[in-house]
Amino acid sequence: MKIEQFNMKDYPAIINIWERAGINVGSSDTKEEIEKMSNRNPNLFLVGRLDHNLIAVVLGGYDGRRGYIHHLAVDPDYQHQGYGKKLMDELMFRFKEMKVHKIHLFIEKYNHSVINFYKKLGWEIRDDLVMMSFIPDEKLYKWKL
Ligand SMILES: CC(C)(COP(=O)(O)OP(=O)(O)OC[C@H]1O[C@@H](n2cnc3c(N)ncnc32)[C@H](O)[C@@H]1OP(=O)(O)O)[C@@H](O)C(=O)NCCC(=O)NCCS
Repeated sequence: MKIEQFNMKDYPAIINIWERAGINVGSSDTKEEIEKMSNRNPNLFLVGRLDHNLIAVVLGGYDGRRGYIHHLAVDPDYQHQGYGKKLMDELMFRFKEMKVHKIHLFIEKYNHSVINFYKKLGWEIRDDLVMMSFIPDEKLYKWKL
């Protein structure tokens, strides 16, 4: 699998992977929002390509203090073949090069089984934190597109 920076021409393909892999596609995943994210963190928004087909995607972000991982997914036809780990290893290498001190990710509770995937990659569960969210404009946010 060849790892590349995301390009907007691959927008339909990443939506397809997210939908097939069971990732919730919401109002932050419209073409406009994805383009915004891509422009902000071009070197952290990665895709994996095999024989010209897009098979994996991860949306990395950095806010100047912490790194974040969103929407990691491997096409279900290609899961359990080491591609998820390969993409994460590349992203962690890039965060390290950027001297980012700590990286967070969020797992929805229904998706409990993925915890073991991240544990194998060295991630630790935080039980000293409670996540809280706030929506500044109810008109903008939609959980599902
Ligand atoms: C999570 C996901 C990206 C993993 O990608 P993958 O290519 O299937 O994983 P890999 O083959 O690289 O697995 C790496 C290691 O983790 C293990 N692993 C992978 N998925 C696992 C799971 N669901 N539970 C337990 N272990 C898992 C593998 O066995 C492998 O271990 P090994 O190196 O000892 O063989 C992929 O399963 C996926 O797209 N899931 C649906 C979307 C999703 O839930 N994303 C996470 C959002 S937070």
